[in-house]
Amino acid sequence: MRTTTGWQSNSASDRPTDLERTAFERRDLRDDDIAVRVDFCGVCHSDLHRIQGMLGEGDIVPGHEATGVVTAVGPAVTDLVMGDRVAIGTIVDSCGECAMCLAGQENYCWQGPVTTYGGTDRVDGTKTQGLYSREYVLKSTFAYRLPDGLDAAAAAPLMCAGISVWEPLVASGIGPGSRVAVAGLGGLGHLAVKLAAALGAEVTVLSRGTAKTDDAISLGATALLDTTDEQAVQDARGRFDLVIDTISAEHALEPLLGMLGLDGSFCMLGNPLMTPPRFFAFLPGRKRVFASGTGGRLHTAELLAFCAEHGITADVEVLPSARVSEALDRLERGDVRYRFVLDLADLDA
Ligand SMILES: NC(=O)c1ccc[n+]([C@@H]2O[C@H](COP(=O)([O-])OP(=O)(O)OC[C@H]3O[C@@H](n4cnc5c(N)ncnc54)[C@H](OP(=O)(O)O)[C@@H]3O)[C@@H](O)[C@H]2O)c1
Ligand SMILES: [Zn+2]
Ligand SMILES: [Zn+2]
Repeated sequence: MRTTTGWQSNSASDRPTDLERTAFERRDLRDDDIAVRVDFCGVCHSDLHRIQGMLGEGDIVPGHEATGVVTAVGPAVTDLVMGDRVAIGTIVDSCGECAMCLAGQENYCWQGPVTTYGGTDRVDGTKTQGLYSREYVLKSTFAYRLPDGLDAAAAAPLMCAGISVWEPLVASGIGPGSRVAVAGLGGLGHLAVKLAAALGAEVTVLSRGTAKTDDAISLGATALLDTTDEQAVQDARGRFDLVIDTISAEHALEPLLGMLGLDGSFCMLGNPLMTPPRFFAFLPGRKRVFASGTGGRLHTAELLAFCAEHGITADVEVLPSARVSEALDRLERGDVRYRFVLDLADLDA
């Protein structure tokens, strides 16, 4: 076994976001494994939901969007060598045989994808621990070479926030002429704006208030619509082909659905406890409602290539990992523009 250091939640604490520094074990490399020195890891709102107990019980080392450098390779690894820059996302294994895996959608593996933290290893049944840590060991095919030119810190959020919005954009055929609305301008939302705009769509941000208007425009949107302005919401009736909902809290869906035109689609990405809308909310206009969860290997590789080509990364605030609790607290308050990224080098000390 190899020992590494990371930041672990403590559900017994009054303040669950006060993560504790902990030493724990990573497995010895299997033939098709690599070890990665994790340099940067984004702080996703799903980490916060998880730490707060919304997505299951038990203490975990969170973190599922990271970049780092390969430090060891198993004998059967042919695609990566020591020293390669790599990116790791939300999934680290799958059955590889079901229809979903064969379609490149390992995120929907019928046997259940192995998530980067809180998952169950397919070989030895141990619980996976995430990327708020200095080293990670995984099957090499679930690590992605980080294209040259992408900044390692700013690219880390592409691996969850980015891919989570990329798959629904691609699956919806978004391109020039498409009208896309992005609800919630946070980690996922700001990357949705950048990616949809780069695909050629006309993008509108749906936000609580107008404070983020300038940001929305500089990210590539043509407008920001204040969702607290009832008249503006009414006036937007039928305006969009796709609404991507990245809002992290429970909220009313009907006003957002009302903004879809004929055959428009509503993509639920945000708060995992949201209930789907009632039948009559999406019947008029033959609206489609779908949900989506991160992404498979094909789309992830495609996203990284697209981002390298278009110079897209997240807008990040990088903090030493010892300040992880501050990052989580500020994320909870909405005080982030637009993604915290932990620099894990301080774990060497
Ligand atoms: N399906 C997936 O694959 C997937 C992957 C990752 C994350 N997620 C989920 O997606 C959600 C967003 O994650 P994130 O990391 O982007 O979070 P985030 O950075 O905190 O952004 C969430 C945004 O939601 C809006 N918002 C927050 N509270 C709200 C409220 N009470 N009412 C209306 N709007 C509110 C805010 O936008 P404004 O300030 O502009 O209003 C905020 O910036 C989380 O629930 C997360 O668990 C899903
Ligand atoms: Zn995430
Ligand atoms: Zn499978």
